[in-house]
Amino acid sequence: MSSPTLIFKKAPIVSLQGQPVLLFNGQQQSLLEALEIKKVRVFSECRSGFCGACKTKVLSGSVTYFTEPLAALSADECLPCCCVPESDLNLALSPKGADTVVHPQALNARAKAVLVD
Ligand code: FES
Repeated sequence: MSSPTLIFKKAPIVSLQGQPVLLFNGQQQSLLEALEIKKVRVFSECRSGFCGACKTKVLSGSVTYFTEPLAALSADECLPCCCVPESDLNLALSPKGADTVVHPQALNARAKAVLVD
């Protein structure tokens, strides 16, 4: 008797210009919702893949659409309102003002800098 094979898929990490902002765990319906929770500024209107207002450049990674987008897209663009990350994703959006993930080593370096000053 063979035992069942368990396959675990890692939740995709979404980064903005290389700065990690979230682990997409599927609790949000779309990439746009997940980005908004992290206070990332993404302009949107229809939120259904029609208008193209949320068009975002993808620097690396891929997405899966749960609604086929009607707006025209280049190969390196996505519509966050109607897709989810399929792999780790690096977007060209600005991380400014977003709740970014800070690596513990970076926190230690900042703490040391404050102590030295
Ligand atoms: S908000 Fe209209 S296509 Fe995304």
